[in-house]
Amino acid sequence: MSVKIAPSLFGADLGNLESQIKAVEECNVEMLHIDVMDGNFVPNIAFGPDQIKMLRSKTKLPFDVHLMVQEPDRLIPRFADAGADIIMVHQEATTHLHRSLKLIKSFGIKAGVVLTPATPVDTLKYVLDETDMILLMTVNPGYGGQSFIPNSIGKIKDIAEMVKGYDIDIQVDGGINLETAPKVVEAGANVLVAGSFTFKGDIAKNISDLRNCVK
Ligand code: DX5
Ligand code: ZN
Repeated sequence: MSVKIAPSLFGADLGNLESQIKAVEECNVEMLHIDVMDGNFVPNIAFGPDQIKMLRSKTKLPFDVHLMVQEPDRLIPRFADAGADIIMVHQEATTHLHRSLKLIKSFGIKAGVVLTPATPVDTLKYVLDETDMILLMTVNPGYGGQSFIPNSIGKIKDIAEMVKGYDIDIQVDGGINLETAPKVVEAGANVLVAGSFTFKGDIAKNISDLRNCVK
C-alpha cells in the first residue's frame, strides 16, 4: 500500500488558513487532517463545524476530521454536514462505538476509530467491519509538537496483524517527522499525519522530504 500524507491543519499558521491549505494542496497531499477539540475530552479547543464548512469551498482535498470530543454522536451530523469525507471518533469518548461508526456511515462518508496511547488494540476487534481507518495516536491527544511515544511501534504491528484481509487504512498522529516516519511505515502504518513537521519552514520541501523518506 502506498503511503498517504495528511498534513494536520492544527500545526499551520492559524491566522492564514486559506494560504496554508493551498500550500499543502499544491504538494499533492492525499488529505487534510482537521483536529476538533472540545476543551473537555482534551485540554484544548480547535475547529468547529461552521469553520470547517467555510474551509470546504477553499480546497478539493478530502477532509479527514479527527473528533477529540466527548460523546461524539451529538456532533457527528454537524461535521458530516460541514463536508467531512471521513470522521474519526475516539474509542475512549463514546459509550457505544459501534453505534457511532454506524451513525457516521449513515451520512454516506467513511468512518474511523482513534485510540489514545494507553488504549489496547483488542477493543477494535468487533468493529472492523464498520471501520475504514484506524488512527493510532502516537502522542497523547490535545497538542501539536509533542514527542513520539516509542512503544507505539509494537502497537502499530499489532493493528496491522489484526486488519489483515480488511480494507482498512492505518493512520498515525503525533510526533511524525523524518526520523519516526520510516519506523511507523515499516511497522505497518500507511497514512502519516504531520502537523508541526509540515508547517515549520519550507512546506513544499518538508512534504517532499517526508514522502522520500518512506519510499
Ligand atoms: C494532536 C493532534 C495532531 C497534531 C499533531 O492531538 O491530533 O493532529 O496536530 O501535531 P504534530 O505532528 O506536531 O505532533
Ligand atoms: Zn489529529
